[in-house]
Amino acid sequence: NHYAVIMAGGIGSRFWPMSTDAFPKQFHDVLGTGKTLIQQTFSRLNKTIPAENILVVTNSAYKSLVAEQLPEMKEAHILCEPSRRNTAPCIAYAAMHIKSQCKDATMIVAPSDHLIMDENEFSRIIEKGMQHAEQSHDLVTLGIKPSRPDTGYGYIQFKDGDKEGEIKPVKTFTEKPNLELAKSFIKSGDFYWNSGIFIWTVNDILQRFEQHLPEMFQLFADEESKFAGPEEEKAIESIYQNCTNISIDYGIMENDKNVSVVLSDFGWSDLGTWGSLYGHVQQDEDKNAIVGKKVQMYDSEGCMVSVPQDKLVVLQGLKDYIVVESNGVLLVCKKKEEQRIKQFLADVKSKK
Ligand code: GDD
Ligand code: MG
Repeated sequence: NHYAVIMAGGIGSRFWPMSTDAFPKQFHDVLGTGKTLIQQTFSRLNKTIPAENILVVTNSAYKSLVAEQLPEMKEAHILCEPSRRNTAPCIAYAAMHIKSQCKDATMIVAPSDHLIMDENEFSRIIEKGMQHAEQSHDLVTLGIKPSRPDTGYGYIQFKDGDKEGEIKPVKTFTEKPNLELAKSFIKSGDFYWNSGIFIWTVNDILQRFEQHLPEMFQLFADEESKFAGPEEEKAIESIYQNCTNISIDYGIMENDKNVSVVLSDFGWSDLGTWGSLYGHVQQDEDKNAIVGKKVQMYDSEGCMVSVPQDKLVVLQGLKDYIVVESNGVLLVCKKKEEQRIKQFLADVKSKK
C-alpha cells in the first residue's frame, strides 16, 4: 500500500533557455549523465516503491514526453492535467486516484526536477517517514539543513524538545519568506528548508484538504466515483476549470498544526538555477563547470557552460559567467545576475 507520486507539470523558467514551456527542465539531462531528471527521480523512488505503484502527474502537453522517457510506466499511471493549477490540485488529484484503488495507502510526493546524491540514504529516510506518517497521522516533510537565506524555499521551524531525534514536530512553516525574514531564520538555527518532498497517508491528506481548502476538496469529492475509471478525464476537466491555483505549501503546509519534519541529509539540490547546477558538475582546474564535449576555455574561471554535446565552443576571458546554448537560443549572463533570467524570458515571450 505504498505509492509514489511524481509531480512533473512545472516549467522551471529560471533554467531557460534549456527549460521551455514545450520542454521543461525535468525532461532534460541537465547534468550530462545520460539520464533526464524525471528518469533519475523514477529510478530513485523505484528502489523502495514498485513501478506499478508509481504515478506521474503532469500537464497533458507533456504526456508523450513522460511516456517516451519512462517506458516502464503504464499509460494509466500518467495522470494528465488540462491546465496549470500548481501543486495543491495536483496532489488532491493523485490522492483521489490512489484512494479509489487502495483505501489505506500511504504516499510520497516528490518533485521531478531535483538532484539527490545519496540514494541509499534517501531510501532509508522515506521508509522512516512512511512509518511515522502511518503511526502519527501527521503530514511529514523532508527537511534539509539550510546553507544560505534563499527566498525560493519553504522554511520549517521545528520544536526542539528532543535534540537527538531525526523526526521533529513542526512549529511553523513559512513559504518563500522575504530576504530579511530568511536571514533571521538562518541566524536562529532552528529552521530547515522544505525539500518539497512530502509523505502522508491518503486519508490524512484528504482530510487536510477538507479542513484547509474546503472548496477545492468539495470539487474533487463530488466526482469521487469517477476516479481511476473511464470518466476520470472528463471529471478532471471540469474540476480544473473551477479549481483555484495554489501550491500545497501555501494552501496546506503553512496552516496545518500536525506536521513533522524528518531532518534529512542525502545530498539534495533543487537545481533551481544555472548557478545551483554549477556546484554539481565536475569542474576543471579553473573552476569552470562544463556540460558539453567540445568546449575550449582560455583565461576563464568560475563559469557554468552548458552546450550541445557536438557543438564546438571556444571561450576566452570570461569570469563567473553562465553560457548556455539550447533550443536555438544562446544565453550569456553573469552568474550573480541569474535571477533576471525569468525576466529575460518574459521579455522574449512578449516580443513574439
Ligand atoms: N503536475 C503538476 N502540476 N506539477 C507541478 C505544477 C502543476 O501545476 N506546478 C509545479 N509542479 C511541479 C514542478 O514540476 C516541480 O517538480 C514541483 O511540482 C514543485 O514545484 P515548483 O514550482 O518547482 O515549486 P518551488 O520550487 O517554487 O517550491 C517548492 O519546492 C521548494 C524546494 O525545491 C516548495 O515546496 C518549497 O517550499 C520548497 O522549498
Ligand atoms: Mg522547484
